[in-house]
Amino acid sequence: MDKFEIRPGTPGDQEEMARIDLECFPEEPWSVEMFRHDLEDNPFALYILAEDPEAPEGEKIMGYVGVYLIAGEGHITNVAVRPKYRREGLGNVLLRILEQHCRLAEITSMTLEVRPSNDTAIRLYERNGFKTEGRRKKYYENNGEDALIMWKVLDPQK
Ligand SMILES: CC(C)(COP(=O)(O)OP(=O)(O)OC[C@H]1O[C@@H](n2cnc3c(N)ncnc32)[C@H](O)[C@@H]1OP(=O)(O)O)[C@@H](O)C(=O)NCCC(=O)NCCS
Repeated sequence: MDKFEIRPGTPGDQEEMARIDLECFPEEPWSVEMFRHDLEDNPFALYILAEDPEAPEGEKIMGYVGVYLIAGEGHITNVAVRPKYRREGLGNVLLRILEQHCRLAEITSMTLEVRPSNDTAIRLYERNGFKTEGRRKKYYENNGEDALIMWKVLDPQK
């Protein structure tokens, strides 16, 4: 990963983001329409994208993180980094930038769901200060796996 640029997701990104989801969440990818809705019509949704400026058009997005900002809480929808850009710290960078945006929006806590089997993601979230606070039974439709519910309180002093 030589260089990357960070920008918010905007209408028009939905097709590339849906292709990333096919790579990152083959079991339950979001559709183009789900991303289109969030990017165009959902005032609560915010996406942060990392782009490889040297990649060809249509393949520039390296990864993204999304959040719904509702009633002072940031509900993370997904964190996804394309396989060829993984294990270089990009997931960590995206989460940290997302947290900065949440703080600017006066969000006081962030939450997400994660599969208990997803060790890499759980470690990433724990490194970023998230703690497991609960479990949703049979949350994932494809295999009936539970979800861990993780939270991070955003202390304005830190
Ligand atoms: C989870 C995910 C977003 C992590 O993205 P990433 O960019 O690889 O994340 P990071 O590089 O910040 O950290 C991942 C690992 O790489 C390691 N790493 C980071 N920089 C590194 C470097 N320069 N050299 C070697 N390893 C490095 C980290 O220590 C971490 O290791 P660990 O898993 O053993 O703790 C990515 O694996 C992914 O998209 N997975 C599929 C989708 C998914 O499961 N998303 C979460 C849903 S809740």
